[in-house]
Formats: sequence, C-alpha cells, structure tokens
Amino acid sequence: MKHMAQASEVNEFGYRIFKLGGFTFWRDEYFAHIEWPAGRHLMPVDRFLKALMRDVAWKFFYGTVNFDEVFGTTNHYGTVDVFAGLYNPGYRDRNQHHVENIYSDQAGLVFRQMLDDWTVAGFDPFAAPEETGTPFGSKRGNNTPAVTRERVVAQRMVGLKHDAALRSDQNGHPVNRQFMDVDQSEPEVHAEEGFEDEVHAFNFFAYLSRSDVTWNPSVCAVVNDSMLCPTTEEFVLPVIHGNDRVEWFIQLSDEIHWEIADRETGKPRARVVMKPGDVAAMPADIRHQGFSPKRSMLLVWENGDPRLPELYAKKRLKPTPIDFD
Ligand code: PHB
Ligand code: FE
Repeated sequence: MKHMAQASEVNEFGYRIFKLGGFTFWRDEYFAHIEWPAGRHLMPVDRFLKALMRDVAWKFFYGTVNFDEVFGTTNHYGTVDVFAGLYNPGYRDRNQHHVENIYSDQAGLVFRQMLDDWTVAGFDPFAAPEETGTPFGSKRGNNTPAVTRERVVAQRMVGLKHDAALRSDQNGHPVNRQFMDVDQSEPEVHAEEGFEDEVHAFNFFAYLSRSDVTWNPSVCAVVNDSMLCPTTEEFVLPVIHGNDRVEWFIQLSDEIHWEIADRETGKPRARVVMKPGDVAAMPADIRHQGFSPKRSMLLVWENGDPRLPELYAKKRLKPTPIDFD
C-alpha cells in the first residue's frame, strides 16, 4: 500500500511520498493524491503543482489558498490550516471535513520539498501553458531553478538603489512574446542635487512586459501597508483565492474574467469582466478565480495591515469598502 509508506519512501513512479500531520501526499503519472484519516482526494497534478508553487512562493498568501474545491490552506500568519473540505458544503454538512493547524515553517518545508521532487525536468509551474513542457509521467529530473524563484519584494520601489532591480535583456528578462508591442522607452528623471537616490520613475508597462511568470503578483512599490503588486496573467489563476481583506484590482491591459463566489460555501456571487482601465474592489468575504484569454497586465493593490483579518472576522469592518447607493 503506497500510502502507508514512510515520508522518505519513493513510490513505483519514482516520486517521494510526503507526510504532514495526518495528511499523506503522493503522486502518480497524472494525479496528486491526498489522504487523511477519514478520506482521500485527488486532483490533476498540473493543477496541484501550479497551486503549490504559488502557496510556497507567497508563503501561504493572504487568507485562503484553495487548490481546488476541496483541498487548501488558510494563513494564520505563523501557523497555517491545512484542510480538506473545510469550505465545501458537501463535506461540511456531513461533518466530513478535516483541518490541521500546523506551524507555517513546518508546512512550508514539506511543501517546498514536495514541489521540488514532483516537478519534473521541462515543467515550470509559474509559466503559461504555451511556455512550458508537461508535468505528467513518471519521475524524470527536476526543475529546481524554476521552483525556487524568489518573488520580487521591493523594500521601497523596484529600480531604486539597494532595492529590487529593473528587468532587462541583460539580466535574463526578455520582452514576452505577447508584449512585443510595448514601448520600452524609460522616463527621464532630473533630480535636484542630493536627491538622486530618492527621486525615481520607471516604465511600468515595460517592466511588466518582461515578466517571465504568470499569476504571481510582485511587490513593486511599498508605502507603509500599501503595496502595489502588478502581475502578468495568462490562462487560469491556479488557485481559488479566499480573501481575508479587500483587494483592489486595476486592469492595465487586455481582459480578465473573474468568477466570484462566497468565501465559505463557494456559492456563486458574480462574474466580472475587466477591461483596460477598469477598477474593482474585491470584497473581504469572497473567493475568486481569474481567467485571462491573452497575457494581460493586472495591478493588485494590497493592504498589508496585520489587524485586518480580525477586524473583518469580528465584523468591525464591512466586507465591501464602498457603497454605491
Ligand atoms: C488574487 O487572488 O487576488 C490574485 C492572485 C494572483 C494574481 C492575481 C490576483 O496573479
Ligand atoms: Fe485575491
């Protein structure tokens, strides 16, 4: 029985079997399998690895990262809930859900090892489907450089001295095939003497046109808790994100369709089509997933204030930041 094996064991497909609390994870040629004391689940391994990549790179993100309708994690910033069926009425109503609260460091370590072992040569979980090979089949090699990419997190703003670098051909960030028409000229900055390291500007569209990953907001400019997190999107957001705060979206190019549902139950609430210039405030009590037919540019504006989840949970803040009536 494969799922009774120890954590270090390698199964017949050449992949390691992982344990985290009462969960066991193993993969075969097509699927990731998840087992817990009273249940089991599987999902296509491409979907699992793409979601796992985000969960690892974003250190469990804000709120809930649903890998699919059953399995996921909820961040408690220090610990994380790893769950099956927690936000799925089919499981909840029959008390069949399973949740374990685990130290984030411990869960992160197992997730990182699993991502590295299960990602085969040629597959890049951050890449658009047209820009990567297949994750399927039995074990063949690794893609460690791809799965250990550091997310860009600027201290103040990308391109400033001592901060995250701008992207260029020279540092391995060519313009993406879908953004060949994006103007690459940079603004002229004329700072007063002594302010050369303080006054700064760069071509935001050119910067984004050189992103080699999809669905991976990077923190490009920070003022206290205000974080501007632009990202380039293509195909499907590989997680269904359950917000624990309001997120603002500004569509910078092309088009994204968002499927928005109740965070707890998944009951559909809205379908939003965002076109260039559109702005949306995603409420604090929803889950959402985006679909981008062409590679597009999206600006996500996050509020990093650590008090927010509790203020929303205790209903001291309304889940929507604006009333239109
Ligand atoms: C989100 O869940 O808000 C989100 C995640 C990744 C993206 C864009 C939006 O690339
Ligand atoms: Fe979100």
